[in-house]
Amino acid sequence: MTETTAPVQKRQPSRATLRLVKTLHIFTVSIWLGAVVVAFALLASSLSDPERFVATTRWIPWIFSRILLPTALITILVGLYYGFLTNYGFIRNRWITVKWVLLLILIPCTATTIGSLATILVPFLESGTLPTLWGDATVPLILLAFQTIVLLIITILSVYKPALRKKTARN
Ligand code: HEM
Repeated sequence: MTETTAPVQKRQPSRATLRLVKTLHIFTVSIWLGAVVVAFALLASSLSDPERFVATTRWIPWIFSRILLPTALITILVGLYYGFLTNYGFIRNRWITVKWVLLLILIPCTATTIGSLATILVPFLESGTLPTLWGDATVPLILLAFQTIVLLIITILSVYKPALRKKTARN
């Protein structure tokens, strides 16, 4: 006789706790997405005005360090909470594993964006020439657009929660 072993289930936090955590999660990820979109809009709209460009190169690092990084950190902590203390886990659901992978891709992108902004500020300070959309400003703009798209993909994954299972002969 073969014994069937049920998957080990963790004790789930209460429904109220899960709802509270989810509210915090949606709140922080909205701010994160908003911060990236605002940074993109600020940079794209500042390329024709030197004063605005200088202000923008100060505002974007401020937005990143004071708004984006804390919300990203809270998102990671909430992710760890879901992983360690709930039945969602880290690899039990593929949509969650994919979220982690995408999140890990976003981290270096954030750091590179700040670096590329510093890079385009130097020639401006030296010669007063504004970066152009299809010149020096292309890299930070593409990085910001990429982050927006990845965050949108994560949002869609979260809402649809696809199984992402390999199809077998049986299904
Ligand atoms: C790797 C880090 C993350 C983990 C582990 C994670 C995990 C989860 C889990 C388990 C839920 C379901 C909560 C519930 O129904 O009680 C959820 C919901 C959600 N997550 Fe995340 N998340 C992460 C990052 C993100 C990011 C970066 C975004 C968006 C930019 C995001 C957007 C959402 C949204 C919109 C929901 C609500 C979906 C719905 O209920 O329809 N998450 N997340």
